[in-house]
Amino acid sequence: MTTELILRRPDDWHLHLRDGAMLRAVLPESARHFARAIIMPNLVPPVVTAADARAYRDRILAALPAGQAFEPLMTLYLTEATDPDDVAAAKAEGLVTAVKLYPAGATTNSQSGVRDFDKVRGVLERMAEIGLPLCVHGEVTDAEIDIFDREAAFIDRVLDPIRRATPGLRVIMEHITTRDGVDYVRGGGPDIAGTLTVHHLIINRNHILAGGIRPHYYCLPVAKREEHRLALRAAAVSGDPSFFLGTDSAPHVDAAKETGCGCAGCFTATNAMALLAHVFEEEGALDRLEGFVSLHGPAFYRLPPNEATIRLVKRDAATRWPAKLDTGDGPVTIFDPGFDVCWDVA
Ligand code: DOR
Ligand code: ZN
Repeated sequence: MTTELILRRPDDWHLHLRDGAMLRAVLPESARHFARAIIMPNLVPPVVTAADARAYRDRILAALPAGQAFEPLMTLYLTEATDPDDVAAAKAEGLVTAVKLYPAGATTNSQSGVRDFDKVRGVLERMAEIGLPLCVHGEVTDAEIDIFDREAAFIDRVLDPIRRATPGLRVIMEHITTRDGVDYVRGGGPDIAGTLTVHHLIINRNHILAGGIRPHYYCLPVAKREEHRLALRAAAVSGDPSFFLGTDSAPHVDAAKETGCGCAGCFTATNAMALLAHVFEEEGALDRLEGFVSLHGPAFYRLPPNEATIRLVKRDAATRWPAKLDTGDGPVTIFDPGFDVCWDVA
């Protein structure tokens, strides 16, 4: 029985760090295990320009505890007013690693996102030219489309047309939640990849809704039915380099989750790696964990994999995490998988 695993240090290809007191509280949770992360730009106001990204990167680095090494890979929030020259300059300076597309209204702080995709055509064409990838929140926002169908509809109505119109644009379909997303990425050639979260490998929609409403399992895209969770698991452990980890760890204080209209987001930074070891072991695929967390992402982003390592151990007793992380803004509930996990980062 495997009780120890040494992996190249992992990266998180989709992470929300927020700002201020929340940033200071959650950043060490990620930096403890992950060498780098793609930092989501959906602050209020969002990180739109190169200057915004530079200032946010400086705030992140200033919040990093002494002795922790962590490289924030910055992204720009795509708006209909984004200037292609500003994006190109940010890329040339080495300041940004990707641009993030939020369809307007799709999720938390996405009001400044894109309504008319023709208006961002120039930016997308420039990104294809200079080799800057596009990270995509893949959900349509039309009120008449059922929330459980929004990812599949996005592929047909938005994602595929954008990719056909912009040859060479490299796209990451983030936090895939459906078999449709898995199939699209798998058959999509070398210019598309997909990230998978930890929580979508563990929960389906019953976890959110059956036997009482559980706000800490509510995120966007919302978890789907069991057949989709199984497709995500199969993709994660397949060894296919098109799939890699993006936790979408998204902290909200409990008061904002446990309320009449609760925020979307699961906070998994603290236990992501331990839960993944559990999931991969269940699937008989521990030998593929390193590819998923440490190799496939850098290969797609054309960055070197990390040289440092991380050690995971499996103990006889279940690992216990605190139920909540205290932040200066209030407590944040740490994702509870609902079963015992004996893995931990040593
Ligand atoms: O669950 C989510 N939370 N999904 C998102 O797309 C945004 C994120 C957040 O910022 O809280
Ligand atoms: Zn996110």
